[in-house]
Amino acid sequence: MKKIGILTGGADCPGLNSVIRAVVVKCLQEGIVVTGVKNGWSGLIDNDMKVLDLRLTSGILDRGGTILGTSRYVPPLDKEKEKIIAENYKRSGMDALITVGGEDTLKIALSLFENYNMPIVGVPKSIDNELYGTDYTFGFDTAVNVGTECIDRLHTTAESHHRIIVIEVMGRHSGWIAVQSGIAGGADIILVPEIPIDIEKVCKILKLRHQRGKTFSIIVVSEGARVSGYSFQEDSDIDKRKALLGNIGEFLADLIEDKTGYETRVSVLGNIQRGGTPTAFDRVLGTRFGFKAVELVKEGNFGKMVSLHSNKIKSTEIEKAIKRRKAIDDDLYEIVKAFGI
Ligand code: F6P
Repeated sequence: MKKIGILTGGADCPGLNSVIRAVVVKCLQEGIVVTGVKNGWSGLIDNDMKVLDLRLTSGILDRGGTILGTSRYVPPLDKEKEKIIAENYKRSGMDALITVGGEDTLKIALSLFENYNMPIVGVPKSIDNELYGTDYTFGFDTAVNVGTECIDRLHTTAESHHRIIVIEVMGRHSGWIAVQSGIAGGADIILVPEIPIDIEKVCKILKLRHQRGKTFSIIVVSEGARVSGYSFQEDSDIDKRKALLGNIGEFLADLIEDKTGYETRVSVLGNIQRGGTPTAFDRVLGTRFGFKAVELVKEGNFGKMVSLHSNKIKSTEIEKAIKRRKAIDDDLYEIVKAFGI
């Protein structure tokens, strides 16, 4: 093992730089050269790569994003491009490739491993934490902390103005961020994609709070949540991504104001949850994942993804990890239900 590559693909998240740093530190100790592939899979199409050393990876632990850049580029839609990636990888002289990414990036990694015999090890990242096969992905803890801080801030203004505030958080089709930040931020109602929203019930809870003397309420809604009986996304002219994953906050706020007469505002946290300094948890998890990824590479344990199970760093078949979405823990559901849905 003389030279390995590392790429970061898909949506960025806090903690990516800790993986890159850990991989470089560990490899240099083992006498392995590390090549950083720029901008996810695109870097292997355009041959955009550079050797990483301690100078380039020093002082990056506390920086969000990724020093390698990333892209949403997904080659399997285009089999020809996948072939170019495999050929360019071979020409680069790398002995293995560490791919840091979420479901989409790992799907491609698996396809390249299976179809082109590329020696690949995956490292799971995502603020959404929906990846099956690991208890946690790094990035999630930071997103939850950012979400919690925003909820705290919105609480005080909701209270002063006697308003309902709907806070839309990210998470795609999974409610992990909404549940954890909603619980931590003391949201009055938490709405997730896994449970269709009963709007009449939501309004009833808000009215009951008012009857009890509370003149404000905080609702946390995950971007993938849907209101039962309404299909607002089909009627929308906005672009496909937004139609699938966006606007629920606005939609919900309008419905609530119409049905209750309470003044309602909406705050969409969006990419704020993905930016900035990673929490200590994400830095440590990213570092542990990076070290383990190099170990797997050295053992020739390819087609695997590093993972966290009961706070121990392990590995899982990439194939298994991307097969299904990780469900929210039952006890968290119970807490969410106790908060009104
Ligand atoms: O998967 C991470 C994530 O932040 C999701 O929570 C969100 O739906 C999506 O990416 C947003 O992607 P983009 O920033 O490319 O619009």
